[in-house]
Amino acid sequence: MVMPIPSLLCSLQILLIITLISQTIAVLVYDKINNSHYICDQSNNKANYTTNSTYHKNLNTLLTTLTSNTDINYGFYNFSFGENNDKVYSIGLCRGDLLPSDCRTCLNGSRENLTTVCPNQREAIFWSENERCMLRYSNRLILGVMEDAPYFFSNNLNDSSDVVLSNEVVTSLLNDLTSRAVKGDSRIKYAAGSLPGPTPEVIYGLVQCTPDLSQTECNSCLSENLQQIPSCCNGKIGGRVVRPSCNMRFETSFLFYQPRASPPRSSPANTTGSNTKPCYC
Ligand SMILES: *[C@@H]1O[C@H](CO)[C@@H](O)[C@H](O)[C@H]1NC(C)=O
Ligand SMILES: *[C@@H]1O[C@H](CO)[C@@H](O)[C@H](O)[C@H]1NC(C)=O
Ligand SMILES: *[C@@H]1O[C@H](CO)[C@@H](O)[C@H](O)[C@H]1NC(C)=O
Ligand SMILES: *[C@@H]1O[C@H](CO)[C@@H](O)[C@H](O)[C@H]1NC(C)=O
Ligand SMILES: *[C@@H]1O[C@H](CO)[C@@H](O)[C@H](O)[C@H]1NC(C)=O
Ligand SMILES: *[C@@H]1O[C@H](CO)[C@@H](O)[C@H](O)[C@H]1NC(C)=O
Ligand SMILES: *[C@@H]1O[C@H](CO)[C@@H](O)[C@H](O)[C@H]1NC(C)=O
Ligand SMILES: *[C@@H]1O[C@H](CO)[C@@H](O)[C@H](O)[C@H]1NC(C)=O
Repeated sequence: MVMPIPSLLCSLQILLIITLISQTIAVLVYDKINNSHYICDQSNNKANYTTNSTYHKNLNTLLTTLTSNTDINYGFYNFSFGENNDKVYSIGLCRGDLLPSDCRTCLNGSRENLTTVCPNQREAIFWSENERCMLRYSNRLILGVMEDAPYFFSNNLNDSSDVVLSNEVVTSLLNDLTSRAVKGDSRIKYAAGSLPGPTPEVIYGLVQCTPDLSQTECNSCLSENLQQIPSCCNGKIGGRVVRPSCNMRFETSFLFYQPRASPPRSSPANTTGSNTKPCYC
């Protein structure tokens, strides 16, 4: 049966209102002191757990297991623990340039901070300073699910009037990094590199997806980020757009990642990591 236009519009309106309401409930918090971002009750499932419940214990076990795992050396952690309604799923992702030990330290710190700021939500997500790592947990399956919301962006406040930064150069760098990152494997989907700016400055960029995404999903997540760059960061000397499934950043004034080859990956070493030379091949 074909729905008459007015009632279709009406349904759409209701849908929109519901979306708006649910968007206002779960709030993404920027913690200025610790310089981190987090959100409790990420998908509004509004299900709290009680202290010392099975869920609580499973969560503690899971996060302890995750952050004490020393076998993983590629910065992506995917663990679950428990049964039925008390099953907890988690994902840990470190920025592709972090050493395994720094990655573990970051996730461990995130675990402490996240469980402090979100004391009894069944679902939460935490981004540490400069997105060095991200920690998520939930009572629903989050692995292999592309999530582009919630997202945040920020820019380096200095405008680039003295730099004459061209959006085209930024876009072309980030575009190219995206096409490299999506080709990563199920352990890491990351690329960082640089391009010469219009002035002597070099533009540094970094893009990353959680490696459980398919190439197509990773590409579509990063494309959404790229589309945000003009509105968030036009004329700025730096900026970033961050989502649960992917993130993207550029800076003109400084090298913000470790220009070292990242952990195991399928592509040849020469094209990985970053170059201080104006080449991102
Ligand atoms: C869940 O916990 C949060 C924070 O502790 C609280 O603000 C909220 O009211 C709780 N929600 C329910 C449904 O109990
Ligand atoms: C939870 O368990 C701990 C350790 O067994 C105990 O010290 C604490 O009082 C319990 N808290 C609640 C709210 O039951
Ligand atoms: C994690 O942090 C806790 C407390 O901050 C500390 O006791 C523990 O040793 C840390 N674990 C790792 C693996 O770094
Ligand atoms: C956790 O919070 C402390 C401040 O209490 C901060 O120093 C630390 O960097 C935070 N860790 C992470 C991973 O965000
Ligand atoms: C920073 O992290 C610490 C340690 O987890 C936490 O107690 C505090 O609430 C966080 N936020 C601020 C604004 O200090
Ligand atoms: C902005 O530019 C000023 C002057 O060049 C510099 O001192 C400051 O560190 C810059 N701020 C940022 C956030 O880059
Ligand atoms: C996630 O963990 C499951 C269960 O251990 C494993 O089968 C799967 O290969 C992992 N997926 C990724 C992308 O790491
Ligand atoms: C990396 O590439 C450069 C220039 O393309 C080449 O000179 C160099 O030998 C390569 N290094 C390795 C380890 O393949």
